[in-house]
Amino acid sequence: MDAKNGPPTSNKLPKLESRPLSSSDVGFHQAVHPSPEAYQKALRELTAANLRLRQLDKAKDEFISVASHELRNPMAIIKGNISMILSGDAGDVNHETRDILTDVLVAVERQIRLVNELLDISRIEAGVINFNLNPAISIDQVAELLVTSLKGVAAEQNLEIKLENPAKPLPAVQADHDKVSQVLINLVTNAMKFTKKGSITISFKEKSEHVITCVTDTGIGIPEGQKEMLFKKFSKPSSESVGTLSAGSGLGLYISKKYIERQGGDIWLEESKPGVGSTFCFSLPMRGSEKALEVVSEIKSLQPIKEIHYKS
Ligand SMILES: Nc1ncnc2c1ncn2[C@@H]1O[C@H](COP(=O)(O)OP(=O)(O)OP(=O)(O)O)[C@@H](O)[C@H]1O
Ligand SMILES: [Mg+2]
Repeated sequence: MDAKNGPPTSNKLPKLESRPLSSSDVGFHQAVHPSPEAYQKALRELTAANLRLRQLDKAKDEFISVASHELRNPMAIIKGNISMILSGDAGDVNHETRDILTDVLVAVERQIRLVNELLDISRIEAGVINFNLNPAISIDQVAELLVTSLKGVAAEQNLEIKLENPAKPLPAVQADHDKVSQVLINLVTNAMKFTKKGSITISFKEKSEHVITCVTDTGIGIPEGQKEMLFKKFSKPSSESVGTLSAGSGLGLYISKKYIERQGGDIWLEESKPGVGSTFCFSLPMRGSEKALEVVSEIKSLQPIKEIHYKS
């Protein structure tokens, strides 16, 4: 402090000298640091603003959750009725009407998918998603079921969809069966959406107490500049789908990432070349592995015990 002039005020900063300033420089210290009262006031304001932001964020999540729920019911009714008309239950339908109603049905199904994804996201972000961990899932069996159910749609698109049998029996993984199926469905339907001709192959390998599942296609591929965006929310499609499945809203990979990471695994784009194809992979911890046990205790600490359905 300058003995003659007293402490510098906030609007009259001390004249800087040519030597470097240090924190022991009293004038420098007082000009930069607020008084304890000002500091306390700023802290109170910041805490209040933070609380307000959290409340707004919660209100936004609740709004999305309620709105999605309310939208789902009427859309399910529209879908049901259109399907009924198309199947001829309400009398004959001429070609033109059939074409129009088919377009409406595709659009409604797309909306239902979007609403379901929004609901998933609001649950993920509110941290209230339930994981029904099953300690012993055969991921190859989950994939086999999916391949069987999608063979017809793939054939319509002239695509071959196949499962590469593992060289030796795969160890079981610990996971939530429905959520893992949802991730695999998203990867396989993505592959179908963005592949005009060729094949989609599901393969497996083991690494560091994890089972890795990969989905490889011979599709349009992903340009270098778009790879970073893939797992972000609303990563808008780089291009329209090339198959019969309609383009989505860019939420599937974001949700998949959240689901897989929460179960102790990882999901990534292994490789992709425009015009050649893409390979997406995800890993899940093997039954009884250190990671699997860690996930159980993490999930238990996050959710009230009664909400965990851990099948033994
Ligand atoms: N196998 C693939 N080949 C080429 N592009 C892909 C592939 N998989 C994903 N993409 C690109 O990544 C984007 C994001 O995929 P994501 O699954 O998140 O969303 P979506 O399929 O567009 O919509 P949603 O899954 O929400 O119905 C896709 O729109 C597409 O541009
Ligand atoms: Mg998708």
